[in-house]
Amino acid sequence: MNIHVYPNDLEASAKAAGLIIEQVRNKPDSLFSLAAGSTPLKTFSLLVEAVRQGKADFDQCRFASLDEWVGLDGSVQGSCRQTMNDHFFRLVGILDKNIRFFDGKSEDLTRECADMDSFIEGNGRIDMLLLGIGLNGHLGFNEPGVNPDLYSHVTELDPITKQVSVKYFDPPQAVASGITLGLRHVMEARTVILLASGSHKAEIVRSAFHDQGSPTERIPASLLREHPNFHLCLDQSAAEQLITTNAKGD
Ligand code: PGA
Repeated sequence: MNIHVYPNDLEASAKAAGLIIEQVRNKPDSLFSLAAGSTPLKTFSLLVEAVRQGKADFDQCRFASLDEWVGLDGSVQGSCRQTMNDHFFRLVGILDKNIRFFDGKSEDLTRECADMDSFIEGNGRIDMLLLGIGLNGHLGFNEPGVNPDLYSHVTELDPITKQVSVKYFDPPQAVASGITLGLRHVMEARTVILLASGSHKAEIVRSAFHDQGSPTERIPASLLREHPNFHLCLDQSAAEQLITTNAKGD
C-alpha cells in the first residue's frame, strides 16, 4: 500500500491525475474505470487541462463504468453517467464506442452485468481504477458485507449510501439499489488509486487502512490493503486519524 498525504485536496487530486497521465503515456490503449461522485471532480478538471495542453491523450483508451444507480437514466442529473460525461468524457471528446456504461434503466440487469464483465474480459483486465470511498467504506456499490468473489452485480444500497445519495440529486431521486463492478474487478485491476479528502472521510479512512486493521468485507475498502499496486491519495484532513492512529501504534 502506497500512502500519499498532501496538504490539500487539490494536491491529492493532482497526484491521482499524475498517475492517470503516466498510465496513458505508458499504455495509450489502457482500460480505465473512473469513479463518479464528488471526490474525483478536481482530478477530472486536471485531466481535461492536461488534454487541452497536449500533455495527455485518451483517444485510444477504453472506459468501463464503475457503477450506476438502478432505475436512473444516464441523462439524469446526478447519475454516474451524466457526471462522467459532463466532467470528463464530453470535455475531452471520448468516443461513445470507447465507453461501456451500466444502463441503470435496463430491464435485464443480469444481462447488463454479463455484458460489462465480457467488455472488461475482452480488453484483458482493468489497467487503472480510480475510486472514492463511501462513509461506510464502500467501493463503487460494493456495500459492507459484499461477497468479495463477485464481478459485476446488482445490490441493495446500504442505508448510509441512500442517506448520502441526496447530495447528488436535484430534484431528489428515490434510489434503492445499484449496479456495480465487483471486488474481483477491483482486486484484478493492475493499479488502483483511492482518493479521499475532507475531515468527514477521516474516520472511515482510519477504519479501513490503519496499521493494525485486518481486511474485512464489512469495510470493503480495507480489502485494498492486499492489492499489490494500490495508491491511497489523501488530503491532510482525510488522513488525520490515520496518521494519529498509526503513529501511536494502537
Ligand atoms: P463521494 O463518494 O466522492 O461523493 O464522497 C464516494 C463514494 O461513495 O464512493
